[in-house]
Amino acid sequence: MLFGRVKSLEAILATAEKKSLQRSLGPFQLTLLGIGAVIGTGIFVLTAEAAQKAGPSMVLSFCIAGFVCAVAALCYSELASMVPVAGSAYTYTYAVVGEMMAWMVGWALILEYAVGASAVAVGWSNHAVGLLHGLGVEFPAAISNADALMAKVQMAFGATPTADLLEAAHVGGWINVPAVVIAAAVTWLLVIGTTESARVNAILVLIKIAALTLFIVLTIPVMHAENFKPFMPTGALGTVGAAASIFFAYVGFDAVSTAAEEVKNPQRNVPIGLIGTLVICTLFYLLVASGAIGALGAQPLMANGVSLSPGSAEMAGRCASIVAGGALEPLVCSKEALVHVLASIGWPALGRLVGLAAVLALPSVVLMMMFGQTRVFFTMARDGLLPEKLASVHPRYRTPHIVTMVTGAGAAIAAAVLPVGKLADLSNSGTLFAFTMVAISVMVLRRTDPGRKRPFRVPGVYIIAPLAIIGCLGLYLSLPLMAILVLPIWGAVGLTVYFLYSRKRSHVGRGLQEGNNEDQPPIPVK
Ligand code: ALA
Repeated sequence: MLFGRVKSLEAILATAEKKSLQRSLGPFQLTLLGIGAVIGTGIFVLTAEAAQKAGPSMVLSFCIAGFVCAVAALCYSELASMVPVAGSAYTYTYAVVGEMMAWMVGWALILEYAVGASAVAVGWSNHAVGLLHGLGVEFPAAISNADALMAKVQMAFGATPTADLLEAAHVGGWINVPAVVIAAAVTWLLVIGTTESARVNAILVLIKIAALTLFIVLTIPVMHAENFKPFMPTGALGTVGAAASIFFAYVGFDAVSTAAEEVKNPQRNVPIGLIGTLVICTLFYLLVASGAIGALGAQPLMANGVSLSPGSAEMAGRCASIVAGGALEPLVCSKEALVHVLASIGWPALGRLVGLAAVLALPSVVLMMMFGQTRVFFTMARDGLLPEKLASVHPRYRTPHIVTMVTGAGAAIAAAVLPVGKLADLSNSGTLFAFTMVAISVMVLRRTDPGRKRPFRVPGVYIIAPLAIIGCLGLYLSLPLMAILVLPIWGAVGLTVYFLYSRKRSHVGRGLQEGNNEDQPPIPVK
């Protein structure tokens, strides 16, 4: 059953040919597209959480996560060049492994995209609130995070009311209103048919690169070698744990492979775009992380010999106590890590400028992730696996408005009540599963269909693909327990839906696949 019900590759490719989008993107534009989708909350916010998990060895964490993404990116490249249609990992798995696993991948991609969009929305909220504060406008804490809510829930479920938890319940907030507002605004833009134009993307990429460059230029000269000692305060496990979380900073590069249909000479350019994106982002991330550690120090906060869990109510409480005591807020406490580092080393105005860059550029990452989600939902609905009503297209705007609003509502609710690090970890667990399936699909297809034209072939596929699988599995197992558990629980819910609803209605199962070649919503008006 696992390998049953494969959607024919011919049917999928017929879709691509019918649509025949113009092949206009070269390696440079493709790399810009990738960088635009990748740089976001990960580096601007989660650097602080990575420091809390790994201390200065977070520079190694960035390398580990970047390496796993690079090997996964090569596998993506081979499938994207062979099956250059939207729907990404879901579509590949449908064609190669079968419907049930494809359903599971699509279901996991909901975690990647919708929950990922929530994480970036919370990162945006942190910066928007910080920017207002810099301008002398205090946004009430009660409605700019959900730390108090988390603390109360934890205590209601029997957690010991430590001083840290009580402090969080006292000073924390109940709901993250700015995050809800940005999620709603992006949903509205998607409903009325906005896609990011290449020009807007290029400008936003420049803004992000300029902000990170400014940060590097200001911090590298004031680095102190002592700030790197002890290098691994939480041991190797802490370093890998941080890699599993900071993996979020690289998520989004699959946007390059989903654009494969529009790329000139995909054999050469898709891998250049993917690897180029990853190399450039890794270099920036390493320099930024080194600058932050060297300039300010990055030692984790501990309780009873173990580091506090970043994003937890305990951590929020401890940080509040430190600041209330008049001490300088440590890097690991900051909700806008890069802005905070610059303010702490004597550049508050330039720090605000970096914050402004994040406020301007992060919404486009939210948009990209929500757009990815609507594409996957739409494709699944068109395949009959989700109610077809979801795939209906708005008569005037020509967008899949119902799917978009469902996605937006889900993302807004998650963003309202969960902290950014937890959301990123949940998103990572879904992404790592999807990447694993892509690596498996590449190897399966090499065996089952060796003769098919592969515009790009993974070099040494039987080394690279297993490395991708082992890397993804290793990172997944290094996530916090909650994120590890959520994937099988989410998967079990998904399987229940599949067997109760989707399996009987599947178009492939009902022999309708030839009539169902259109697997994308109409391209919205630019
Ligand atoms: N990589 C993207 C970010 O860090 C999702 O925001």
